[in-house]
Amino acid sequence: MARGAVVDAGGLGVNDPAAFVEEAVRRLREEVPARTIVAASGGIDSTVAALLAHRALGERAKAVFVDTGLLRAGEVQQVGGFFAASHLPYSIVPAAELFFETLAGVSDPEEKRRRIGAAFVRVFEGEADKFGADRLVQGTIAPDWIESGGALRDTIKTHHNVGGIPKDMRLKLVEPLRDLYKDEVRAVARFLGVPESERQPFPGPGLAVRVTGPVSRERVERLRVANAIVEEEVERAVAAKEIGRPWQYFAVLLPIRTVGVMGDNRVHGEAVSVRIVESIDAMTATAMAVPRPVLARISERITRALSGQVVRVLYDITDKPPATIEWE
Ligand code: XMP
Repeated sequence: MARGAVVDAGGLGVNDPAAFVEEAVRRLREEVPARTIVAASGGIDSTVAALLAHRALGERAKAVFVDTGLLRAGEVQQVGGFFAASHLPYSIVPAAELFFETLAGVSDPEEKRRRIGAAFVRVFEGEADKFGADRLVQGTIAPDWIESGGALRDTIKTHHNVGGIPKDMRLKLVEPLRDLYKDEVRAVARFLGVPESERQPFPGPGLAVRVTGPVSRERVERLRVANAIVEEEVERAVAAKEIGRPWQYFAVLLPIRTVGVMGDNRVHGEAVSVRIVESIDAMTATAMAVPRPVLARISERITRALSGQVVRVLYDITDKPPATIEWE
């Protein structure tokens, strides 16, 4: 890895996953004297963190998955299956009401992240109380805190699992992956036998940061439909070898009213932007040159499925930098 030097924090670089796991387990035993819960999103980072905690602490660690109401279509079922296949003890906590309440009327992306972070912590504290835990294991990785200003950089974005943690949290944070980059986490995941998942990275604040502008149940549902179409069409194009597998591919709902035609009438609806990017580690990314027929299918299906609600579909051609991968 070109970044090896950056990652080598106190001998925790990952040229040797076995040594990394041994050291992480030793540290977890030190840092968790009693019980802990693990913030589990079903993504690779938190799954690896949960497996390490399980390996280090056995029954004293429990993975908690929060159903925020901001998840993608079918995600709760998928994640449940993934945990089961990884042999992880877990519980799923339904909390959509809390999240929609706390987000009502909020448009500012950083404020969304702060509120989501606080809501997550309230849920984790409740679960920790029930489980008798005083620690919270998180799968934070290096780009999360570097981009949150942790390495003396300006705050680019407050990742909800970093800057979004309220100061008064009662649980002590334990972050076994904080020196790792994504490809290193993948190496550890392979070593731990995590089933290869084609699941793309999904931000902790979920669809809330892809519904730009105010978050409501209706807007989230609209985006969920559009996003499922983007995922299906991209996966179909990958399977047909029309494109390689992108790093991330998703829909974003834009906060504008725009005009379209339905029969003889002009109608006003929202616009959806489609983001399909290639990347190695999310620090930089390239907008994929997706063949026109794939984009045409996406546009046609979204405007049909959300007829009268979404009247315009845009393809985002911006690389990172200067844009970020997410819109918010
Ligand atoms: P950006 O948008 O900063 O995203 O180019 C880089 C990678 O991070 C993901 N991302 C997040 N993940 N909480 C997360 O857990 C967040 O608040 C967050 N924001 C962005 C993004 O999906 C991409 O993979």
